[in-house]
Amino acid sequence: MSRLESFRRRLTAQIDGLDWATAEIAGLEGDVLELGLGNGRTYDHLRERLPGRRIWVIDRVMRAHPDCIPPENDFLNGEADDMLARLAKAGVRMALAHYDFGTGDHPADAAEGARLAPLIAAVMAPGGLIVAQQKMPGMHEIAGPDAVDPGRYHFYRAES
Ligand SMILES: C[S@@+](CC[C@H](N)C(=O)[O-])C[C@H]1O[C@@H](n2cnc3c(N)ncnc32)[C@H](O)[C@@H]1O
Repeated sequence: MSRLESFRRRLTAQIDGLDWATAEIAGLEGDVLELGLGNGRTYDHLRERLPGRRIWVIDRVMRAHPDCIPPENDFLNGEADDMLARLAKAGVRMALAHYDFGTGDHPADAAEGARLAPLIAAVMAPGGLIVAQQKMPGMHEIAGPDAVDPGRYHFYRAES
């Protein structure tokens, strides 16, 4: 598979996974957390799918497309460890978290995911969903939509 084809598969899995998750949380109270604003593509998708939800966004830098800049009060500009601790202390709880911090450096990405997984779990509403482009050790993995090949994207449910 070429890198272009691999890229297409990743984007398709992201869209299918986020569409599935945004429908799944319909009856669940809580905010939404986007980990990794980047260009703002997945943030834009989430806000289109979930117009009534507050979407918190964490990134250490702001380099989003001008049309995809979150409201100032919802953008947590800094390191994820600090920002997640701030959210937990404020008592904010998420019905859905999307983890997209990957750089393509697999060992580094895996280590970062493992370090952040318990901090993300601490801000989840009971039964909330975590959709991640990599494994989140210690979380309860569930099956995602049929359209997404197992292992391509990962789906977890927070403890009830
Ligand atoms: C792959 S990009 C996100 C792509 C984005 N979801 C999109 O659709 O355009 C990853 C982003 O995560 C941010 N990031 C990675 N690790 C981080 C950390 N530990 N704390 C804060 N931001 C981080 C990077 O600055 C980068 O902007």
